[in-house]
Amino acid sequence: MTTPTTALDWNRSYRNGDHHAYWELSHPSAELVGFLAAHGPGTDRTALDIGCGTGWDTVALATAGYRVTGIDLSEEAVALAALRVTEENPPGPLPAFEQADVRELPFPEAAFDLLVDRGCFHHLGAQDRTAYARETARVLRPGGTLYLRGSRVNAFPFKPLTPEGLADVFTGEGFTVGPLLPFQLQTDAMSLPAHACVLTRTAPAATP
Ligand SMILES: C[S@@+](CC[C@H](N)C(=O)[O-])C[C@H]1O[C@@H](n2cnc3c(N)ncnc32)[C@H](O)[C@@H]1O
Repeated sequence: MTTPTTALDWNRSYRNGDHHAYWELSHPSAELVGFLAAHGPGTDRTALDIGCGTGWDTVALATAGYRVTGIDLSEEAVALAALRVTEENPPGPLPAFEQADVRELPFPEAAFDLLVDRGCFHHLGAQDRTAYARETARVLRPGGTLYLRGSRVNAFPFKPLTPEGLADVFTGEGFTVGPLLPFQLQTDAMSLPAHACVLTRTAPAATP
């Protein structure tokens, strides 16, 4: 698949350092750390950080004990994330990183117990969201969790996370959509009105 996901040139942003002006956070995100603290050790569990950027949340997952993989469409991001892990040296199995597209994930069925996404899904349009839901359902084990965090405002370049929008896309793929909880998604440069939502893969995807 070669079509870009969004209007943004992610590689250029990382090369220019634009991520520091928008979405970069110089530590793991507080809402992921809270989620992980509430869920106990990730030992013997696998996690995927979707659109991992420079890898701070990947580091949090590794620190919690998960065998974690970070993927990003941007190879520049993946290189920065690998560097981050070297610098932070989290305990447990070394995180793996891969340049990959969430719309066509290079992993087998039911490969992960937990999927996390901070700020990737909210950039995707309707067609890409359908592919996202299909692929996340495929790689998540039954009973597994997708933890989404994204904008709740409809302001360029974001497409908000709404209860109806998430139900439309994920229910047919066998997910149960939890409540959308308003919070402020913090970056080093700004604070974005956002929603956090836990989706559980409760059933196999519906056959077309
Ligand atoms: C706003 S950034 C957030 C990065 C990171 N999660 C964070 O919290 O700092 C969105 C990320 O999603 C990645 N991305 C966009 N479309 C993608 C796709 N189709 N597959 C995988 N990653 C994608 C971008 O390259 C970018 O790194």
